[in-house]
Amino acid sequence: MCGIVGYIGKQEAVPFLLEGLRRLEYRGYDSSGVAVLQGNHLSLRKRTGRIANLAELIASDPAPGFTGISHTRWATHGSVTDANAHPHTDQSGSLALVHNGVIENYATLREQIVLEGHSFLSQTDTEVLAHLVGKHLNALLTPSTTISSALLVEALRMALKQVVGTYGIAIVHKELPGLLVGARRGSPLVLGIGKGEHFLASDVSAIANHTREVVYLKDFDLAALTSDGFEISSLLGGKSGYEITAVEFTESDVDKGKYPHFMLKEIFEQPDTVRDALRGRLSREEATAKLGGLNMSNAELRAVERVVLTGCGTAAHAAMVGEYLIEQLAHLPAEVEFASEFRYRNMPLPKDTLVFALSQSGETADTLAALRESQRKGNRTLGICNNVASTIARESDGGVYMHAGTEIGVAATKSFTSQCTVLSLVALLMGRMRHLSTTQGLQILDELEAIPDKIRTILALDSQIREIALKYANSQAMMFLGRQFNYPVALEGALKMKEISYIHASGHPSAELKHGIIALITPEVPSVFIAPNDSVFEKNISNIEEVKARKGPVIGIGTEGSKRLLSVCDDTILIPACPDFLSPLLTAVPLQLLAYHTAVALGCDVDKPRNLAKSVTVE
Ligand code: G6P
Repeated sequence: MCGIVGYIGKQEAVPFLLEGLRRLEYRGYDSSGVAVLQGNHLSLRKRTGRIANLAELIASDPAPGFTGISHTRWATHGSVTDANAHPHTDQSGSLALVHNGVIENYATLREQIVLEGHSFLSQTDTEVLAHLVGKHLNALLTPSTTISSALLVEALRMALKQVVGTYGIAIVHKELPGLLVGARRGSPLVLGIGKGEHFLASDVSAIANHTREVVYLKDFDLAALTSDGFEISSLLGGKSGYEITAVEFTESDVDKGKYPHFMLKEIFEQPDTVRDALRGRLSREEATAKLGGLNMSNAELRAVERVVLTGCGTAAHAAMVGEYLIEQLAHLPAEVEFASEFRYRNMPLPKDTLVFALSQSGETADTLAALRESQRKGNRTLGICNNVASTIARESDGGVYMHAGTEIGVAATKSFTSQCTVLSLVALLMGRMRHLSTTQGLQILDELEAIPDKIRTILALDSQIREIALKYANSQAMMFLGRQFNYPVALEGALKMKEISYIHASGHPSAELKHGIIALITPEVPSVFIAPNDSVFEKNISNIEEVKARKGPVIGIGTEGSKRLLSVCDDTILIPACPDFLSPLLTAVPLQLLAYHTAVALGCDVDKPRNLAKSVTVE
């Protein structure tokens, strides 16, 4: 994980670096640092805590210069301390390096290099890489050679050949003040092109204010940047081809607008983001979905016998909704596996199994590894991503973009409903090729088109949901229960609650209640039942009665006009009716608001919850 920003040009580097780091804080925010070159002097500043702490440090102890690298950290190896914050230096202190990823063989490399007389200042895997580069550079320098950009790149190439793991890195060296070097393998790195200046960043959002032209570096690319140009070579030797891409990123993407938090803004964007996921994809003539990005002919789609969906966190919950959707609408066997499990399982994947990798960021390490594993087995693997420039989007055999706009809040909200929308289109398309009639197809299109307005109706319940959140904000724990399509929503509701409010919460199929969970029910542990008017409504009501009989408070999420739900629950949130297979698109929304208002009431940092990061680019 972690975020990297690098600058080389004719301006002071620090303001640019700090601005970029603030935009990358979603990638990690436990400590940060900069290394800036001026002449042959290297200024290193690092601080635990938020970027504001680093900015304060630099205000009192400036780091002037026109070339610099910076980093915002999400700790993997070594606890959160100033010493473990990046940048890290080599043995001589001449070279500084920032890193996003994991050096898996760092312990062995460190042991070897310690025997050679190197000493370390941190517990990180990254510092080993800095030492290795420095060591190779020293070995390349003979009395007849002087340090040069080519030698530093060569030293980096030699070091990276020894490394097992993933990296996006940026390096500066105090004897090469006109040079910034970057490399990537498995962690994203984008090179920005400016006038008389160049940039490196983990994500385009960090540099989009300064350039409209970027190069998305590929795995094994090594980039040498000066203020006036850049060269990209391959770790494996020779030049590496690249493509200059126009930046599709607007300032409003990183602006909270009238909202106090990105999470709330993103929750309220859902009528638009769901509509954007549908836009141009509904075919009334054929009563189906049009998904050209799948890159599959109708014959190929018809030949699919089984679907496997994979992802992490919220994306895995959306995948579970997809499992129910594909089963119900297409009558195809569908299975979900967490990407972290998928990559190490030896799942039988017959050739007619279609695999979907779901990822908002398109950079989640486990999901990327699952995609590659499935492709290795010869299975067509499609991506459902939001970030169009991401690695998963680029490496998948086709897919469907979510078009949800940048999601900044660490707790995923609009990406969940967009993923569910896309999956309902996939299920409709595959269903229409199999069992669904034209009439059924048209009905589904009508219902899909009605969803954005129904979400708007739910958002109008915000203050009512806030009241309920305040009432239960001091609960010891919370249970989230739902059945069928709303079982994954129960998991998602519990995830939202725990990740931002730190209240222990767990999601379960409602009927599992009596097989253990009921032991936890007390007046201090409320249960949130997702019980719209669907085929399992009566069953949910029985489960609610079981909780009430044990004096457990119940918050019910149901369908407008549901008197029965009103009569059994302590608090009720009633939302518009819709077919059961689309209900996750609606029921998720009040749960997002419930978690949001609970976290705000408890004074939690909603957009940057402790210990988390938005994009998990380490295993
Ligand atoms: C992290 C985030 C979650 C997200 C998950 C998968 O854990 O905190 O909100 O659901 O990664 O992310 P992805 O970008 O692959 O959807």
